[in-house]
Formats: sequence, C-alpha cells, structure tokens
Amino acid sequence: MQSMKDILGKMKNPFFLRLMGLTRPFLISGRSFDLTHTEEALHELINFLKLKKNKELNHNILIPAMIFHDCGWSKVPKNILNLSYGDVKADNPGKIIHQKEGALIAKKILKEINYDSELVDEICYIVSVHDNPSKYKKNPNALIVAETDKLVRYGDLLFYELIKKRIQTLEERINFLENGIEKWFSIPEYKAKARSLLEQKRSKLKH
Ligand SMILES: [Fe+2]
Ligand SMILES: [Fe+2]
Repeated sequence: MQSMKDILGKMKNPFFLRLMGLTRPFLISGRSFDLTHTEEALHELINFLKLKKNKELNHNILIPAMIFHDCGWSKVPKNILNLSYGDVKADNPGKIIHQKEGALIAKKILKEINYDSELVDEICYIVSVHDNPSKYKKNPNALIVAETDKLVRYGDLLFYELIKKRIQTLEERINFLENGIEKWFSIPEYKAKARSLLEQKRSKLKH
C-alpha cells in the first residue's frame, strides 16, 4: 500500500493533499478503517483517471467527492455504527446518516477554502447519494465514485477486517462479493478487477 502522499503526489496537485488533511480528523473518528479505506479508494480512482486520461472526467469533482465520501461516519452514533457493517440494506440508519452528514462536512470544508462554488454542489450531492444506487446511477460522476467505493470491498482491508470482527463468515463474504460483481459494476475495468481480486482471494484461501 502506498502512502497518501505518494498517491496524491501522482496527481501533482498539493491542493488535494490539503483537502485530505482537512478531512483526516473526521476519517479517524468514524469507523476503524475509514482512513485506510478512503486512501485505497483514492488509489483506485487515480488509477482509473489515468486510464481514462483522454476522456473528459472532472478530477476537481471526483477526487474531492472520493475524499469526503465516508467522512460522515464520524457523526454516526456508536450504537448505530455497530449495526452498519457488512451486508446491510439501503435503508440502514448508519448508511443514511453518514451520507447526509458527510455532505454537510464537505460543504463546510469546501466553503471555508473558497472552493469553486459551481463544483461544491455536485461534490456534496455525490457524497449524499454514494450509497444509494437509485440516485447515484443517474449521475455519471456519482456512479464513478460509488463504483470505486465498491471495488475497494475486494481488497484485503475490508475483507479481513469484517471477518475478524465476525460480521460475516469467510463464505458469506465471498458470496456477498460474488453476487456484487454483476450487481454493482457497470464500468468494465472495475468488473474485471473485482473478479480477478476475488479469484486471488479464493486461491489464497485454498492454500
Ligand atoms: Fe459510504
Ligand atoms: Fe466507502
């Protein structure tokens, strides 16, 4: 895993590093893995943006939205937070609260630093719907952020963390991810990567 500085350094944009610094206090006070999860999501997003460098994708919307997407977990009461891990429904209270609160935190930080007001509304909107498929599927930028977030589920961090916490058994987690491949991804590169990461996990577990 690369450090945050390495990941954002690749973007050659010190501004995003500053934004991450301002969001960090929220990411370390939510779920135990929110900071690392966000770093991994940024890593995937930056790889995707490089791959699509000829397409007109707005980095100034996508990267801040990815940085902020889970900062709202810091405002979710602990008793609700503990019921929010693993395979939970879209109307799970933690899911709803973290999107709403995350958008408010994002708005406050972006206003404080005088971020381009035309972009602020869309960034906050993405944060507010990133876990709500009926809404994020209708917005191309929100779709990229949401699918990047899902792809991170196939990495080691969330996989082993949830098993260690006994939120899901190994078998349940693998089935959850297997079913997710068709359900969550419309971006072909993400679908292929999710499938390959899941295969790697399966073969590692056999040995
Ligand atoms: Fe989230
Ligand atoms: Fe997330």
